[in-house]
Amino acid sequence: MKVTVFGTGYVGLVTGACFADVGHDVCCVDIDKDKITSLKNGEIPIYEPGLTEIVLGNIAQSRLVFTTSAEEGVAHGHVIFIAVGTPPKEDGTADLQYVLKVAQDIASHLDGQTVIVNKSTVPVGTVDLVEQTISETLAGRSRTDVIFDVCSNPEFLKEGSAIADFRKPDRIVVGHKHKRVKDVMRELYAPFNRNTDKLIFMDPRSSELTKYAANAMLATKISFINEISNIAEHVGADIEHIRQGIGSDPRIGTHFIYAGCGYGGSCFPKDVKALNQIARAHGCDTKLLAAVDNVNEYQKIRMADKVLKYFDQDVKGKKFAFWGLSFKPDTDDVREATSKVVIEKLLARGASVAAYDPHAMDEFQKHNQGLQNIEYIDDMMAVLEGADALIICTEWRHFWSPDFARIKESLNRPVIFDGRNVYNPDQMAEQGFEYYGVGRGLSVSIELELE
Ligand SMILES: NC(=O)c1ccc[n+]([C@@H]2O[C@H](COP(=O)([O-])OP(=O)(O)OC[C@H]3O[C@@H](n4cnc5c(N)ncnc54)[C@H](O)[C@@H]3O)[C@@H](O)[C@H]2O)c1
Repeated sequence: MKVTVFGTGYVGLVTGACFADVGHDVCCVDIDKDKITSLKNGEIPIYEPGLTEIVLGNIAQSRLVFTTSAEEGVAHGHVIFIAVGTPPKEDGTADLQYVLKVAQDIASHLDGQTVIVNKSTVPVGTVDLVEQTISETLAGRSRTDVIFDVCSNPEFLKEGSAIADFRKPDRIVVGHKHKRVKDVMRELYAPFNRNTDKLIFMDPRSSELTKYAANAMLATKISFINEISNIAEHVGADIEHIRQGIGSDPRIGTHFIYAGCGYGGSCFPKDVKALNQIARAHGCDTKLLAAVDNVNEYQKIRMADKVLKYFDQDVKGKKFAFWGLSFKPDTDDVREATSKVVIEKLLARGASVAAYDPHAMDEFQKHNQGLQNIEYIDDMMAVLEGADALIICTEWRHFWSPDFARIKESLNRPVIFDGRNVYNPDQMAEQGFEYYGVGRGLSVSIELELE
């Protein structure tokens, strides 16, 4: 099938590449000229395991092309995806300007019969809004002969395992109004739907809400275990035992109940806030969503406060080594990463930072150009030299079994603040470290004033 994808970010590029890889003829459109030039040259602008090979292979087979021309993109696709960003506005509502601009661009060049698929995470009612935007633009062009359908097809991939998630989805949700859309989507996704039927058809509003509900549920699990981990610190319990103790109950399950220094990324923080705003805009009073968000914000600040408390609030002239800047491993995405919150707080108190991340240092630097007194070093051991503590914000695989003797030798003091519970507290104590995990290890007793 001829497929066009607007937006070549984490979602759009993976979607385009994976569709091309099963034989569809794909054109990816982006307004970012530099990104498109890089992609045409075979340079992948994001770090996502396995993506480079698929993009290069399909460019070589001419099944995947890139352009900045919306006209070219619209002329190409019988199915056109909208996969652009929906960042949060100041009040937490999703900013739909990019989605609606694409809707206008599509309508400006639309001809024949087309299915327009919204893959961006959007407020309930956006299918109707896109439909209306396209109809108005077509009316302005005096085109009444164009047939188009708009449907919702939210994306559930996870950065870091995006290719595997796209190729083997747990479910493919489609919110549609007409049967003809169902047929097109079934054909389009057939290569990913062979083993068991993963397609779940519903109305557009339910589909749009499904995406927010999924992310809110996952965020709730994380905030829940984080809250329990804080209780564990106060009462002297170990969150890892508790995780196993509750996770063995199949009604709870072991996934997504790891305590840590807060969730980040481009989805959970913004989607929880946006869902809260959607509810309120419809007169629905929510209580849980704001709490989930608050717990998460608190968890990030709490990480910084543990360090400050340990040093009696005086970190002026101290140096901190950071391992991990991305919001999670296997991605270079630093949006809403805990590392930023902790680093900013320490720098503001006169500390300096030496940071290492295997893939996210450029992104972090690009998004935080105002930060002074931070040195980026492409060597995880070198950042430790002369540092007063090691702070771990991301659990990259090669942090799991480091040379502890060397760490101890390099640090000014053998102190580790581990925001991802990578190490075993008993072993750390045996090795002579002061080890502060989340809900385990030593505990710095802190009480924060919640806003
Ligand atoms: N990143 C994820 O893990 C993930 C997972 C599921 C869903 N989502 C949702 O998918 C959507 C996209 O997320 P992302 O992380 O890929 O965003 P992103 O910021 O990485 O990429 C968005 C891309 O859209 C491009 N763009 C903006 N306006 C455009 C236009 N008019 N025409 C063509 N391109 C345009 C931008 O230049 C950018 O390259 C969001 O709604 C997000 O919430 C993201």
